[in-house]
Amino acid sequence: MLETIYKRRSIRAFHPDPVPEATLRELIRAAMHAPSAGDERPWQFVIVDDRELLRRVPTVHPYASMVPTAPVAILVCGDLKLETHEGFWVQDCSAAVQNLLLAVTAHGLGAVWLGVHPRRDRVEGLRKLLGLPDHVVPLALVPIGKPAEEPAPEDRFEPEKIHRNGW
Ligand SMILES: Cc1cc2nc3c(=O)[nH]c(=O)nc-3n(C[C@H](O)[C@H](O)[C@H](O)COP(=O)(O)O)c2cc1C
Repeated sequence: MLETIYKRRSIRAFHPDPVPEATLRELIRAAMHAPSAGDERPWQFVIVDDRELLRRVPTVHPYASMVPTAPVAILVCGDLKLETHEGFWVQDCSAAVQNLLLAVTAHGLGAVWLGVHPRRDRVEGLRKLLGLPDHVVPLALVPIGKPAEEPAPEDRFEPEKIHRNGW
């Protein structure tokens, strides 16, 4: 597990090989295993593998130029109708995104977290592109594929950010 955590880096270049359907299911299964407030599980996942839709993503997200090179992307959304503990959906869905990224790494695949909420233009752009209902808020788009780059692991341990028994 720790090896996977330290190995995970953002991948922004992909080979075109498709991600098998069984792998996609396994990745989403891992995402759905995330903890959530009161076990509310307020997430919804939109698999995007239509080439034309992937090609149009950079028109609604300014930092998503790599998306058209990926065979597939998963949009992790919060479903406000499923929220039973108000305001916690972002934390729940973020935990799901991190689980997804770690599962991707464990499969030898690559991915990057593209932030959507709380940027209104990205939320509305993706809502329109993918026909999401008003109560479904896109949180992160995660393009996934066989990595075409291999960023080196980094040591980001910063002991000055650790405090004990107060500030
Ligand atoms: C909330 C969030 C939003 C992000 N949005 C983008 C994005 O729009 N485009 C992008 O290329 N990377 C995005 N990233 C990836 C970060 O740039 C990346 O995680 C960070 O630079 C650390 O590098 P690493 O993931 O390789 O460890 C985002 C990451 C997070 C957690």
